[in-house]
Amino acid sequence: MAKYTFPDGFKWGTATASYQIEGGVSQDGRSESIWDRFCQMPGNILHNDTGEVANDHYNRYKEDVALMKELGHNAYRFSVSWSRVLPEGTGKVNEKGLQFYSDLVDELLAAGIEPFLTLYHWDLPQVLQDKGGWQNPDSIAWFEEYAKVLFDKLGDRVTYWTTLNEPWCVAFLGNYIGEHPPGMRDLGTAILVSYNIMRAHGAAVRLFRNMKMSGEIGITLNFTPSFPYTDSEEDKLASSYMDAFCVRWFLDAVFKGEFPSDLLKLFKERGITLPDFTKGAEMAEQIDFLGINYYNPSFHQYNPHSWPFYASGMKTDLPYTDREWPISPETLEGLLLRINAEYSPPKMYITENGCSYNDIVNEDGAILDYSRINYLSRHFKAVHSAISKGVDIRGYMVWSLLDNFEWAFGRYSRFGLIYHDFETLKRTPKQSAYWMRDVIKANGLD
Ligand code: FCB
Repeated sequence: MAKYTFPDGFKWGTATASYQIEGGVSQDGRSESIWDRFCQMPGNILHNDTGEVANDHYNRYKEDVALMKELGHNAYRFSVSWSRVLPEGTGKVNEKGLQFYSDLVDELLAAGIEPFLTLYHWDLPQVLQDKGGWQNPDSIAWFEEYAKVLFDKLGDRVTYWTTLNEPWCVAFLGNYIGEHPPGMRDLGTAILVSYNIMRAHGAAVRLFRNMKMSGEIGITLNFTPSFPYTDSEEDKLASSYMDAFCVRWFLDAVFKGEFPSDLLKLFKERGITLPDFTKGAEMAEQIDFLGINYYNPSFHQYNPHSWPFYASGMKTDLPYTDREWPISPETLEGLLLRINAEYSPPKMYITENGCSYNDIVNEDGAILDYSRINYLSRHFKAVHSAISKGVDIRGYMVWSLLDNFEWAFGRYSRFGLIYHDFETLKRTPKQSAYWMRDVIKANGLD
């Protein structure tokens, strides 16, 4: 028996997202998404890369499922492209696009792999963005309509459903920081988007209950816990604002139907016009599980000139990945214990965790990514430790199956367990993929 053994039935696999892997952007009636549009604007993406081909998973999904099987995975988290299913955003269903997901699910089930389906991983149809996207309160009804199409088609085979992936990135990277589409830089808009998208999440969960679906539904949030750079009161204040922003903002929405009061107060002091939150309770529909996406912590110093959080991010002496993200498995364990104590989610899944390294293929054709093995091994143990302290965690999806189109970083940030050659589209499992196969086989590690 392995030293760190996971509970029976623990789910092991990887996570991906439609726009990052599928390619086939004009195939079978798919319409333009906000990512297609965003990638066309020079300067938005490193080296002006796009997801036009990505891993060509749309045409090679069988090969990819076979690889998952070979590598021993028993779960797989993927997302659906709204533009394939409803090319006009709402209205007429594109049967061919929908069929792709039905075929993918069948292929997974035949391989003994449990599908975890995410409805929205950032690729809104451009036609809906043209109507204001998530800023428009109609987006709640659009999302419900879209969710219904998938519940109807796949409800007999998909057990695990996730409404949204990382609404933080949709709201703030898309509308405040401007790194993602629609590329806005307005904090008030980002707050409004937070509110609408969380009401859309609540509406989809309600629909799931009303349709008496037999599976489970949850949401995936991302967390970048902040720590004060020093023990000074100022640094603690700056860090607590960043904690409210990067940890509590969406947790409070999901579990309490409101946003953190300390941050709302700060936003008001900073002159931001806030939406009327009277329908906040709609955001807090009871979920079945919470998905945790965790990569790294952050460290903040008080800075009176920094708007709006009085906080500057600082580097520390922790080790860093090639993406310059600090490595701290202890932070993951602490986060899980804290969420469990403060929000009591029914259960949790690690829906994303992983690391980016500039992997190279050696002269024998192998990719010896020992840094990734080290990163994953330490994080697996951190999760094991949280479980042993009573936190109910049911599965672990590593980000990602393949090196893929990593948003603003294009193809230059490799997170895969499988190496992807972007010229030939050849897939080669890295050493970490074989290492993880052994972990899954033992349901644990030493
Ligand atoms: C997360 C995203 C995922 C991937 C990883 C590295 O924020 O959900 O699509 O880009 O980061």
